[in-house]
Amino acid sequence: MSQTTPMDSRTLPVGVFDSGIGGLSVLRHICVHLPSENLLYFADSGFAPYGGKPREVIVARSLGIAEFLLAQGAKALVVACNTATAASIKALRERYPTLPVVGVEPGLKPAAAISKTRKVGVLATERTLSSEKFRLLREQISADTDVEFLLQACKGLADQVEKGELNSPATLDLLNRYVTPLLQQGADTLVLGCTHYPFVQPAIENLARRVAPQPVSIVDTGEAVARQLGRQLDKHGLRRQESGTGILRAFTTGSRTTLARTFETLLHLHPEITAIHTETGI
Ligand code: DGL
Repeated sequence: MSQTTPMDSRTLPVGVFDSGIGGLSVLRHICVHLPSENLLYFADSGFAPYGGKPREVIVARSLGIAEFLLAQGAKALVVACNTATAASIKALRERYPTLPVVGVEPGLKPAAAISKTRKVGVLATERTLSSEKFRLLREQISADTDVEFLLQACKGLADQVEKGELNSPATLDLLNRYVTPLLQQGADTLVLGCTHYPFVQPAIENLARRVAPQPVSIVDTGEAVARQLGRQLDKHGLRRQESGTGILRAFTTGSRTTLARTFETLLHLHPEITAIHTETGI
């Protein structure tokens, strides 16, 4: 007698990708909320950052990575990158209409709900802030609330995180340049609209304590994304039923050693990592 297909599908992995290591800030919540899921993480570090690249390039990268992850058996995709979500989630859903595809977007709504000064700073890449998807989100939230959003493109910040410089003078200088003016204009809530930025959250909090006239809250949507993934897996009957811890495998278009070090430093995890070369067609 053959095994039923739904049973098999549930044990398949969830594919998670980002331009680089930023998606680890989402992956850590997935590991907590869905510990028995098998996971594939794809870091496109050889092509990072996405933030200043043309939209078509990001769409092509996202479709190529999705195809690769599906070929590895992925039963669902998490686009753990605001920039890639803004540019390509529509194209991904059109190409794979029956596949659960979960994206990330800046948490304007939760930020608007908690801001007391009614001024919210949004830190993201240039590509995210100039996207149609972000414009629509901002218009929708602005129509329902009296909050003013102060937008700040953080050129170079994802690169610093990618290099592992979470607290270096150059990183602190960038943060000072991008964040201080928002705080001085009265923002009491900062939205981390790029998945790389939660890794510099401690540095942002230190800065805010020094320069903000008001207490500051920081909004990161990583946990909300993990919960949304759980709901999508349930909806499609794809949640893994076994209680054991799932297996994590990782892929990178950059350096294996660097990704291994990053997993160790940021998440204390040691997945098997495969380097992907562009000759493979991705
Ligand atoms: N981590 C990505 C995001 O959430 C983008 C960083 C980049 O590659 O520019 O937007």
